[in-house]
Amino acid sequence: MSHDDYPTDDPAVVTCGLPYANGDLHIGHLRTYVSGDVTSRALRKLGQETAFVSGSDMHGTPVAVNAEEEGVTPREFALRHHEKYEETFPKFNVEFDNYGHTDDETNTELTRDIVRTLDEEGYVYEKEIKVAWDPIEDEPLPDRYVEGTCPYCGAKARGDECDEGCGRHLEPGEIEDPHSIRTGNPAEYRDREHRFFRVSELQEYLQGFIDRLEGTSNARNQPREWIEGELQDWCITRDMDWGIDYPDSDASEGHRDGDGEAVDEDADDLVLYVWVDAPIEYIASTKQYTERVGPGEYDWEQVWREEGEIIHIIGRDIIQHHTVFWPAMLHVAGYNEPRAVVASGFVNLNGKGFSTSRNRAVWADDYLAEGFHPDLVRYYLTTTGGFQQDVDFSWDRFQERVNGELVGAVGNFAYRSLLFAARNFDGTPDAGVSDEVRERIEEAVDEFRAAVNDYSLKRLGEAATALAAFGNEYIQRNEPWKLTDDDPERAAQVIRDCVQIAKALAVLLAPVLPGKADELWSQLGEDGSVHDVAVEAALEAPPADFGEPSELFEKIEDERVEELNENLQERIEAATADEEKADDEDEDMSEDIEPIDDERIGFEEFQDLDLRVARIEDAEPIEGADDLVKLTVDVGVEQRQIVAGIKQLHDLDDLPGTKIVVVANLEKAELFGTESNGMLLAAGEQADLLTTYGDAEPGTKIK
Ligand code: MSP
Ligand code: ZN
Repeated sequence: MSHDDYPTDDPAVVTCGLPYANGDLHIGHLRTYVSGDVTSRALRKLGQETAFVSGSDMHGTPVAVNAEEEGVTPREFALRHHEKYEETFPKFNVEFDNYGHTDDETNTELTRDIVRTLDEEGYVYEKEIKVAWDPIEDEPLPDRYVEGTCPYCGAKARGDECDEGCGRHLEPGEIEDPHSIRTGNPAEYRDREHRFFRVSELQEYLQGFIDRLEGTSNARNQPREWIEGELQDWCITRDMDWGIDYPDSDASEGHRDGDGEAVDEDADDLVLYVWVDAPIEYIASTKQYTERVGPGEYDWEQVWREEGEIIHIIGRDIIQHHTVFWPAMLHVAGYNEPRAVVASGFVNLNGKGFSTSRNRAVWADDYLAEGFHPDLVRYYLTTTGGFQQDVDFSWDRFQERVNGELVGAVGNFAYRSLLFAARNFDGTPDAGVSDEVRERIEEAVDEFRAAVNDYSLKRLGEAATALAAFGNEYIQRNEPWKLTDDDPERAAQVIRDCVQIAKALAVLLAPVLPGKADELWSQLGEDGSVHDVAVEAALEAPPADFGEPSELFEKIEDERVEELNENLQERIEAATADEEKADDEDEDMSEDIEPIDDERIGFEEFQDLDLRVARIEDAEPIEGADDLVKLTVDVGVEQRQIVAGIKQLHDLDDLPGTKIVVVANLEKAELFGTESNGMLLAAGEQADLLTTYGDAEPGTKIK
């Protein structure tokens, strides 16, 4: 199946991974919500009918356990966080059409309904499995409170997920050497009856699904291994009180025994696994939106059950849930499948994951308390580094982006142009837009469209900032201030062009900078909101009259950054000290370390490799290949072309000038029709490039 370009004739729904109602929001979470908001606004700009929904993820063991520690009910605890999130999102201009939660009636009903269908369709069976048990408390131990060793890769893992190693989801009972995080005692296993979803029977469907799936390449590549390997059935119940009860249905009674009597009493305190009801909130939230605005305005059933574009925005840690379990459920329950899964890299601090429990984080509230405009961090989060790349949050980088592109390019251009226009022409000069400028704006609009269709938020932001850079160059080149006396007509023409560029900037920047774009919109004398116009407005004339503008952005001073850095550094140090003391519940995403091969090689074998220092001269994406980049590198004796799979992980613009290490005598290969003459060396999943410590010149042999 090939998908039509956006805008399509069908409604779209953009969803964001639901935040666990369990702690404060940090800048890492915001990468998901800002990206979702930008995507939905950009789709609307293209004229795509779009709903933007999410909700809080209320269930799961951490909520239950934390609530107990606080002495409140899980519902009370989760609702408090839910309300806080609901309040926080708009402060970042993240405006959901509906923001619900998984414990409300809509989701509870829909979840029961869907699970009942899975059951009726014969996709659910009961099986006795071993469940971790806390022998002291005499109660089942929730997954998250079991720690042990991953049976697949040997890394330290959590009960339900190999979070520090291979990233696999672990079924109950799979983890080796389990012990309780809370008491440190070895966990016992007891036999319990649980329900399983026959994901294993959906292999063929899922393979096809992954082939059709759009979005970021990590969302296709990561699950392939699982789908093409031995797909396991999925345990969809948990021994807990907090959650949505497993639904009673004729079908499930049939599973129990012939005359409707429950065979085991245990089933009574089984709730659905949190990952069953959480994604269903995507549907429930859309349904609530329809209930509010009416099906004439937006029809949830059309998008979820008939024809529609379902787009999930998430972080890379929850790809498997969205590309295996979730489409499997949708498929069996008779719903539409997602069109795209867009999975961002993580936001880290000094190369390590944020940790809520250790306060190693930049909190959403702290950012707001600093008084920074929300659009600044939106711009930073969407345009810094490749989308799939993990990025370190840094105030220096934040300052650089704000002062360079927002203050320097966008703000400076808009202010200069509108001030000149207001002072000399009381608004838009009476002249037509020149061909050069019209074509340049058209190019930016085309780039905007292409970026939306490519799910590339970075390209989207850059389509606008590049236009601003052009604007500055254009005004500099034409020097209208020299023309007002000698050639007023020409001055009017130049300023008319600049005002048009400013208007195009407001339109194109609206998704990424919703607040600032609206400010610019009113400075141009426009009525209403820039969010109500389509992208074509970029080429329509602004009002004839407007007054003097004010500066859109303020420069961030060095002293301010120093102070922010100091505070953050203190926090990181405190968190690190904490970590050295106790190595308990860990949210660190560091990679597991592969064991070193026992078999040694001789020195001659090593010498067979001709490793050289090289310098990247040029980096270009290879059209049609998700991950590949064509590099021109200087290897001292000559320039070479090398193909590398780093497109999603590095900013191509940053690469030229970087020194790398290449295997210079590797056989030539052809990748995507492009010759690769050598191989670049890089470390780990994030393709950390090998470089030299000192100033060894290109061509230097490595020995
Ligand atoms: N509740 C689940 C998602 C259920 S979706 C049906 C969950 N919650 S979360 O609170 O841990 O994360 C919420 C969103 O933030 C997810 O998209 C997650 O990937 C993202 N991120 C959480 N921490 C992050 C970073 N440090 N960096 C980037 N994204 C991060 O997962
Ligand atoms: Zn593992």
